[in-house]
Amino acid sequence: MTLALLGTGLLGRAIAERLQSVGHSVTVYNRTTSKALPLQACGITVVTRPEQAIAQTDCVVLMLADAAAIRAVLLTPASLAVLRGKTVIQMGTIAQEESLALQAEIERVGGSYCEAPVLGSLAEAQTGTLFVMVGGTEGQFVQWNPLFRSLSREPRLIGSVGKAASLKLALNQLIAAEISAFALSLGLVQRAGVPVDTFMAILRESALFAPAFEKKLPRLLTRDYQHPNFSTRHLLKDVELFLKEASGYELTTSSLEGIRPVLERTIAQGLGEADYSAIFEVVNPTP
Ligand SMILES: NC(=O)c1ccc[n+]([C@@H]2O[C@H](COP(=O)([O-])OP(=O)(O)OC[C@H]3O[C@@H](n4cnc5c(N)ncnc54)[C@H](OP(=O)(O)O)[C@@H]3O)[C@@H](O)[C@H]2O)c1
Repeated sequence: MTLALLGTGLLGRAIAERLQSVGHSVTVYNRTTSKALPLQACGITVVTRPEQAIAQTDCVVLMLADAAAIRAVLLTPASLAVLRGKTVIQMGTIAQEESLALQAEIERVGGSYCEAPVLGSLAEAQTGTLFVMVGGTEGQFVQWNPLFRSLSREPRLIGSVGKAASLKLALNQLIAAEISAFALSLGLVQRAGVPVDTFMAILRESALFAPAFEKKLPRLLTRDYQHPNFSTRHLLKDVELFLKEASGYELTTSSLEGIRPVLERTIAQGLGEADYSAIFEVVNPTP
């Protein structure tokens, strides 16, 4: 397939490389062109305007930071002018209502839209083992299945546009809950002088264990949050999107509301672009 991918940040870059490596022909646009240029080494075409990428394909994949970034790249007169007859597949994490608004804008100019947010990060993108959750029609799911299958062993059709966006936020709420809970327990264990190995040995064998704990433990023990897979800034974005959507339902969100200022303080310490496990610096500051 010939594909355009807009947004070569952390995940966009990995997805572009994966798609090109399994035989697709990929053209990318990134606001900061210099960050996309290394992709030329694996045969990917880099252009300097989004409309140049859109014009070359029937399928436009979005891997942008948030709804504001999508508006800045896709909902411009130049991009809208070339969207007729194209399908936009939105893979970033945005809210249900943002996804529905985007669908309306794209359909208004004769394009087609579905969402396909993903769970997993750089390693999963590189190996085609992301969880791809599609919000769209059965027809779109079938038509773009070769693309979804390039990134996922088992892409899933969740429902109409918006449903996959909500599911993605529900999953990311768990990222925030798990890291904050683990950081707090590890902090107590360290300060109380309990051996971390003993804590982990019991945790691993218990029903409380989550694989994310094991994954993040080395970062927390060394306080090394460089080379992020997923940034603190984007986790805060997702927490805020979840809280906004949940406010429309009768859900008690005080546990998640408590995590928000922890993320804000982490960002205020200059760790917004760091791996989100950097919240340990606020939960358990260096003594
Ligand atoms: N990283 C992960 O593991 C992961 C996993 C699942 C979902 N996601 C979601 O996927 C999306 C991308 O994540 P990421 O980690 O790749 O983020 P990232 O590294 O921050 O990349 C963000 C991308 O958006 C572009 N962008 C930001 N603001 C813009 C603006 N105003 N105008 C134009 N372009 C703009 C950036 O361009 P520049 O390079 O010019 O800044 C970059 O291409 C986010 O919604 C994130 O929540 C990420």
